[in-house]
Amino acid sequence: RSRTYILGIETSCDDTGCAILDTNGNVISESIHNQNLLHLRNGGIIPDVAQDLHRRYIEPTVTNTLKEANLTMKEISAIAVTLEPGLPLSLAVGMKYAKHLARKFDKPIIPIHHMEAHALVARMQQHISFPFLTLLISGGHCLLAVVEDVKKFKLLGKSIDSAPGELFDKVARRMKLRNLFEYSKICGGQAIELAAAKSLNPHIFKLPLPLVDYKDCNFSFNGLKTAALLQLHRKEEEHRIEGDQLIPEYNDLCAGVLMAVTRHLVHRTQRAMEFCKQYKMIPDENAQLVVSGGVACNNYIFKNLSVLCEEMNYKIYRPTPKLCMDNGIMIAWNGVEKWRRSLDINMATDLQSLDIR
Ligand code: KG4
Ligand code: ZN
Repeated sequence: RSRTYILGIETSCDDTGCAILDTNGNVISESIHNQNLLHLRNGGIIPDVAQDLHRRYIEPTVTNTLKEANLTMKEISAIAVTLEPGLPLSLAVGMKYAKHLARKFDKPIIPIHHMEAHALVARMQQHISFPFLTLLISGGHCLLAVVEDVKKFKLLGKSIDSAPGELFDKVARRMKLRNLFEYSKICGGQAIELAAAKSLNPHIFKLPLPLVDYKDCNFSFNGLKTAALLQLHRKEEEHRIEGDQLIPEYNDLCAGVLMAVTRHLVHRTQRAMEFCKQYKMIPDENAQLVVSGGVACNNYIFKNLSVLCEEMNYKIYRPTPKLCMDNGIMIAWNGVEKWRRSLDINMATDLQSLDIR
């Protein structure tokens, strides 16, 4: 292992993540504190509550990561920390703590873009050369971009409203997929995936294909959400009138939602591949798709994207599930990629520019 260590800190949403990597990309240690269960009880993330929890857990998480690596702050070469995008209150906790460490131990700070980190972390485990196409799908985002270099992302399209993970979380919560969901540690998207797999009639709920008439690479999930919740409401009414306790169609509706989201993702990704070919943005030998973000954990979605990639002569990559979800390793890894290229190394004496917007 090399002697240059990068500490990564992630607090953009509801996970307090920290990791230490050496500049060869070996993970020396990592810690993550997840607020999922608490937010489930609240019916969603409340920014103030998330911030309080980050404040409470940031120090123990970082301390624990150093301890497990058997390192002190003196031996760390730089601190990589998420600057944007995310919940401003949550981001501020990580940035403030990173600045505090930077000043106290005279270490540089490397600001990280959360979505870039989601895409680049795939390069930690596999050989993926620039440029490549990336589809980033999470609870807060949905976008397609060409990654030309560590800091050069060309956005091809993004969601004009909500994100796929958000849709899954809403539907799962509305269905109270309780036995699957509330009492165990799984999130909405996983609950939908499990329920959909149990469906015996996956085609009975028909949901629309969003933006079908638009020839761009943008996404939209609000229409699907409204349609899904309306059909859910209708079914619940029918069963309420009949006095049923259990609603057997829940699994089928989960399957319908998952299939509709998948079709939309595949449709737009195909557009992006055609666009890249037409404008020669990715040479044939680089035809690689990286899928990342929490929703990329979904095997049904990944399988269907794999079929598309086969048809389009693309290689497909995704980080392991733990690295698809928010974590400190992807931030530290992006720090390593920037460190190797001397990009964005901000000295401890000059940190004013790194304010959370
Ligand atoms: O990337 P991430 O950890 O946080 C954000 O930056 O949003 O993604 C979390 C999202 C949640 O909405 C969660 O429901 C979704 O990823 N998710 C999944 C699966 N596992 C997590 N969605 C679909 N299928 C899954 N297996
Ligand atoms: Zn994320």
